[in-house]
Amino acid sequence: MAVRVGKTLLDVLSGNRQAVPPVWLMRQAGRYLPEYRAVREKAGGFLDLCFNPELAADVTLQPVRRFGFDAAILFSDILVVPLALGRKVEFLVGEGPKLEPLTDASGLASLRDTIDPAIVGNVYETVKRVKSLLDDKTTLIGFCGAPWTVATYMVAGEGTPDQAPARMFAYRDPDTFARLIDKLTLASIDYLVGQLQAGAECVQIFDTWAGVLPQTEFERWSVAPTRKIVDGVRARVSGAKIIAFPRGVGSKLWRYVKDTGVDAVGLDWMQGLNYARDHIQTLKPVQGNVDPLALLAGGAALDREVDAVMQALAGGPFIFNLGHGILPQTPIAHVEQMLKRVRG
Ligand code: CP3
Repeated sequence: MAVRVGKTLLDVLSGNRQAVPPVWLMRQAGRYLPEYRAVREKAGGFLDLCFNPELAADVTLQPVRRFGFDAAILFSDILVVPLALGRKVEFLVGEGPKLEPLTDASGLASLRDTIDPAIVGNVYETVKRVKSLLDDKTTLIGFCGAPWTVATYMVAGEGTPDQAPARMFAYRDPDTFARLIDKLTLASIDYLVGQLQAGAECVQIFDTWAGVLPQTEFERWSVAPTRKIVDGVRARVSGAKIIAFPRGVGSKLWRYVKDTGVDAVGLDWMQGLNYARDHIQTLKPVQGNVDPLALLAGGAALDREVDAVMQALAGGPFIFNLGHGILPQTPIAHVEQMLKRVRG
């Protein structure tokens, strides 16, 4: 295995190529790990785990200990922000998140002006702990959801196949929806700055639902708020490194990278490799993008996917990752197989 020198992920975010790309996986701490399931059981609910700095720090480090990933991603959730703005948020076992739906201006008026320090303080404490326990080669990544993606859950009260409730809200009452997005934008800036000040070395903005928006709506609700977050964070933490993951945006990714000013972009598994190499990696470092289902399948299919991604993207500034989060049913042996192939 290649010897790592310094924080390889930060080096790539500065625009450099590593001979062996740094590797981490979205949702790398989670239910596919028996040690996660054990701590999760001990913690009680999912949010209890998120707000217990000792256990959350432990869970953050579990996949790093087991696989030697080049980055640790803070264990938390994007829906901590609506909770910290005063909304009710629950995670029901086997059903995913449930929020009190926000459907009109009165729902908006009920939100706090800023995120509740009593809530996000627990998250910052987790960041501090992880940072103090991390070695000098592993990068600590903080994160938030993009305002658009967080809004889709706030409006619908849950995940839906195409996030139609938020899209309808935005068409029917764009002024109120714009105020919701603005509030989430400011909250996200505060939240990311808090994580960076607590010790996060870079942050990722998850825009999981960017791909459901047509061009003009995408520019208004995804690109512009992300640009504001990038500028707002950098105004308070100079040189802050920011990765964005706008899932499913296809060829709109080029404009996104140009207009948001992010340092690197996560490619979803549907994104074309030649397009990414020729049009995106020429602008900024890229991260991705093995299909989580190929990782679940394992065997020759996984090897083929890993080779295709490496061949297309490892010649430039590149962070190896999946094209979305690891699935809970994924065998640990498949993760080991993939790492071996990447690190040669
Ligand atoms: O390891 C990591 O990546 C860090 C932790 C992390 C979680 N969620 C933990 C989690 C991160 C970065 C997220 C981001 C997140 N959360 C996103 C954006 C990325 C994506 O996956 O699309 C979104 C849309 C959410 C909202 C969310 N949280 C949903 C829809 C669900 C339910 C789906 C599921 O997998 O059960 C969650 C719950 C959640 N967040 C779990 C974990 C480990 C599973 C909860 C459990 O342990 O019971």
